[in-house]
Amino acid sequence: MRDQDLRDAMMGLHDGLSRIFFAHQTALLDRDYARAEIELARYRERLFAHAQDEERLVLPRYRELGGDSSDAPTRLFLGEHDKMRGFVDEFLTRVAALLERPDDRMLLELLDREAMHKNLVLHHDLRERNALYPFLAEQLDRSEQAAMLEARAFRGD
Ligand SMILES: [Fe+2]
Ligand SMILES: [Fe+2]
Repeated sequence: MRDQDLRDAMMGLHDGLSRIFFAHQTALLDRDYARAEIELARYRERLFAHAQDEERLVLPRYRELGGDSSDAPTRLFLGEHDKMRGFVDEFLTRVAALLERPDDRMLLELLDREAMHKNLVLHHDLRERNALYPFLAEQLDRSEQAAMLEARAFRGD
């Protein structure tokens, strides 16, 4: 296994997540709220599972190895995960309301809120890509990286 495999595998999941979010947003552009809801539910399930894998397997190990002394401490990742989960649940409520009663003002409001989420996701992605996973790639031997990948509940689809 190459050193970057843990990072590549985990970061590859982010790309899959953004493709689903894109599908959700294109459904919003079509004002197809039923499809937007389905894509958002898919996104929620996968995003939450990925964040949970990181919270269960990756971040505790990062903390043990001294990650909290870096400028990307564990609490930043946890705080961002919580914010993302809050955003996605809010979006589901908003899409359900649009499905009930279409309204362009509400649609634009949703897109504005989703832009904030995308900005948060962008920063979170960079922090994991440039700090969390490179740190772990340095500190963990190959077999531990492989075991971590093996223990994940979410491996993409
Ligand atoms: Fe991640
Ligand atoms: Fe994360």
